[in-house]
Amino acid sequence: MTINEIRQKYFDFMVARGHQIIPSSPLVPEGDATTLFTSAGMQPMMPYLLGQKHPLGTRLADSQKCFRSQDIEEVGDNRHTTFFEMLGNWSLGDYFKKEQLEYFFRFLTDKKDGLGLDPNRLSVSVFAGGDGVDKDEEAISIWKNLFAKTGINAKEGHQIFAYPAKKNWWSRSGTPDKMPVGEPGGPDSEVFFDFGEDRKLHENSPFKNEPCHINCDCGRYLEIGNSVFMQYVKLADGSLKELPQKNIDFGGGLVRLAAAVNDDPDIFKTDIYFPVINEIEKISGHSYEIADHQPSMRIIADHLTAATFLIKDSVFPSNKAQGYVLRRLLRRAAVKLHFLMGSREGITQLAGITTSIVDIYKSIYFAGDDTIYVQSAIAQEIGKFEKSLDKGIKELEKKADVSGKDAFDLYQNHGFPLEITIEILAQLGKQVDIQEFQKEFEKHQNVSRTSSTGMFKGGLADQSVIVTAYHTATHLLHAALRQILGNHVSQKGSNITSLRLRFDFSHPEKISDEKIEEIQSLINEKISEKLKVTKEELPKEKALEQGALAFFGQKYPDVVTVYTVGDPKNYFSKELCGGPHVESLSELAKIKIVKQETLGSGVRRLYLQFV
Ligand code: SER
Repeated sequence: MTINEIRQKYFDFMVARGHQIIPSSPLVPEGDATTLFTSAGMQPMMPYLLGQKHPLGTRLADSQKCFRSQDIEEVGDNRHTTFFEMLGNWSLGDYFKKEQLEYFFRFLTDKKDGLGLDPNRLSVSVFAGGDGVDKDEEAISIWKNLFAKTGINAKEGHQIFAYPAKKNWWSRSGTPDKMPVGEPGGPDSEVFFDFGEDRKLHENSPFKNEPCHINCDCGRYLEIGNSVFMQYVKLADGSLKELPQKNIDFGGGLVRLAAAVNDDPDIFKTDIYFPVINEIEKISGHSYEIADHQPSMRIIADHLTAATFLIKDSVFPSNKAQGYVLRRLLRRAAVKLHFLMGSREGITQLAGITTSIVDIYKSIYFAGDDTIYVQSAIAQEIGKFEKSLDKGIKELEKKADVSGKDAFDLYQNHGFPLEITIEILAQLGKQVDIQEFQKEFEKHQNVSRTSSTGMFKGGLADQSVIVTAYHTATHLLHAALRQILGNHVSQKGSNITSLRLRFDFSHPEKISDEKIEEIQSLINEKISEKLKVTKEELPKEKALEQGALAFFGQKYPDVVTVYTVGDPKNYFSKELCGGPHVESLSELAKIKIVKQETLGSGVRRLYLQFV
């Protein structure tokens, strides 16, 4: 089965059980300054898990694009990636544990409606209890019954295993003690596929000679899905309270499910990665069958896939936040290709590989001119890095000992992220003093918050007043740009912090100071008119017919929320959007456009602030 077939099969299965399919949200969360990337399917669902009504009801399913920068070091084995699609189904106070476990077991094992996996090769984990919450005996008994129906006598210690919160509790911030006040979470139940005892010997794992268990990471068992019973919320006194609305948050790694269906634990052999691996084989002249080449080839394939999706969602290489992570992915892929080929010439071919990535996902996530858009961003970045890579490697080769100061100079002068220096040194059999590097780094402080500092992972979305106001300002800017520059302007992305709005859009040239002034005045005029903002839910076709703007290239559900600024018959702005927004422009301060940048290939970026 191909990835596209498995995704479709899951959607059909969920639709047959009353679910509505919703599109994936972008990889960079909108209006949420607390986290850099969407790293789990439940993140965009947060308002609904907390009780807001979803326009499509209480049973939803999707395949969410996810990116986990914290997993970057693990990429290189046969099952970890930074980018992945997570299948999800959601019960918003509708069905609960029994139905969920039945649905998932049936999807995995049913030969007709599901994937037809052998139930003998499935094992499950449940919550062992702790933090004032009992052991999940209910889940154990549901699993026993489900296995029994297929003639299998599963019991605790055999296909069913209980683990403490570290393994079987889910919230955005981890175990109950780490959950901030107001954060929802709950016990979960994971399902693992057994690739068989012999597979363990093939995988070069540090655990391969240890006693094996389903969570041991030796490569024999692969986690393929997680059902979270989201039924608690953290209180100020540190305890957990039952939520009035009990939710299901299910997440399953699409490519891992494909690996189980293929009965091959190497996810890079699935139909979404193998064409990319083939391209890397062609460029490098090396075969993937040679085990020594596999880690590098997997890293290149993953990082380029992630980069393609990030650029599509309006991230560009830079020294800050998401842009820094993207830069690191691209430079790391370049270093890997360099060492694979033994020369730097090849690295300019990296951009070309993305054609195969866009092709694979074309029908779902990409539109017509995306290949050019993605490739020009990658080519620009690799072009900048190409010469420094050569110089940097020569410098690192020359020195017997590389000090933290040397590494910092490389960072300053040649744009080598520390991780890249470590990587190159590892290839050369050398090390660097990381603490010394950090000291130098802090001394200079010329790079504002990178992904590894500042922003915390998890925590409640920032729905503060100011972020909401910037959200509305996004619509005002979009409308003003179209009115003044023309209807070719379409939004490519946006990002909000509590300090500013960043807005990317298509426009071929620099905007003159006069035009900037005009755009600014138009928005401020509308703000001083204190226009009303109204929200309504409409069928998508109707909303588009009425002229509501949609985000370029994004897929929307059949029923959408539309925000209108001004008189509905003679509006200033009308857009499809999940919100939240202010109710009237009287809530906004005057704005100022503070900066303009070009992102190449006909895309410009503006920064706007309230003054
Ligand atoms: N939130 C859970 C996870 O990310 C299930 O979707 O694993």
